[in-house]
Amino acid sequence: MLRLRTFLQQHCDNAELIDVIDQLAVTCKDIAHQLTLGDLAGILGSAEQENVQGECQKKLDVIANDLLKDSLAALPAVRGIASEEEPDPVACNENGAYLVLFDPLDGSSNIDINVTVGTIFSILAAPEGSHGSDEAAYLQPGNQQVAAGYVLYGPSTIMMLTTGNGVYSFTLDTRMGEFLLMKENIQVPAATAEFAINMSNQRFWLPAMQQYVDDLLKGETGPLGKRYNMRWVAAMVAEIHRILTRGGIFLYPFDNRDPAKPGKLRLMYEANPMSMLMEQAGGRCSTASEAIMAIQPQGIHQRVSVVMGSAEEVSIVEQYHH
Ligand code: AHG
Ligand code: MN
Ligand code: MN
Ligand code: MN
Repeated sequence: MLRLRTFLQQHCDNAELIDVIDQLAVTCKDIAHQLTLGDLAGILGSAEQENVQGECQKKLDVIANDLLKDSLAALPAVRGIASEEEPDPVACNENGAYLVLFDPLDGSSNIDINVTVGTIFSILAAPEGSHGSDEAAYLQPGNQQVAAGYVLYGPSTIMMLTTGNGVYSFTLDTRMGEFLLMKENIQVPAATAEFAINMSNQRFWLPAMQQYVDDLLKGETGPLGKRYNMRWVAAMVAEIHRILTRGGIFLYPFDNRDPAKPGKLRLMYEANPMSMLMEQAGGRCSTASEAIMAIQPQGIHQRVSVVMGSAEEVSIVEQYHH
């Protein structure tokens, strides 16, 4: 079976990009190890501090963030990083070719109940002459991403990766400490029987979204409605992995509670990297009104409403919003 680095050498003609993805894999192996220690190392629970998102950080949010920040800063190819857990971008190496954006621990509300979490990453080319601490350098639409992926810390530790030519999955063999290629050219099934949404926010959605979900629950929206199952793992990385594996649709809709926060999910290091994977796998990704990867970002922590998954169902959601 093909090791990640060997696969990259066969599929990627840029040695610096290979170094960045390999470094992310090495660091995520360490994060996976920290997660398995959990209570044994006294690293569950709250860090008793708030992040720029206004969330109370978990200890493992901070640990995962610091592991990624330190390891990427040591790589000459990395000009700078942006993270959910960092208020501002962090400059690394002034001549690095790449900017790396990440959600170090996605779904971290699951960590204290030992349920799946993940790391999400997005890689952009550093603009000529840009500085790694310059937010403007990172504000590139999702369709400019060079590579994107996640590492899912579940029963297996799995990396899902695209460098723009299809989606590939790698499973961590803990005996040898290597991510091994498992699936190539992953495609999302067009139709589906599963949808994931947090119904507790229903009263805050747009009327069009309320209507879509009402009709869906009555089985009246089309193929999905006939025999659907509802899912919610409260970790985007797990929902998207399920969709890439057996189809489905994931929705975190527009929410009218705070105009400054049109949705809960962050564009730069959640919606965009997941959109690159999803579209590379033949799925679709939309805010319900526009393609996520076409959005011109205004800020690295900007939020966006998200509808993504099997192409057919995403199109039905968009029809409700026209
Ligand atoms: P994070 O843990 O990185 O802050 O992200 C959590 C996100 C996403 O992973 C998940 O889909 C969503 O928040 C869950 O939101 P609810 O807690 O409202 O279910
Ligand atoms: Mn968070
Ligand atoms: Mn997240
Ligand atoms: Mn997070």
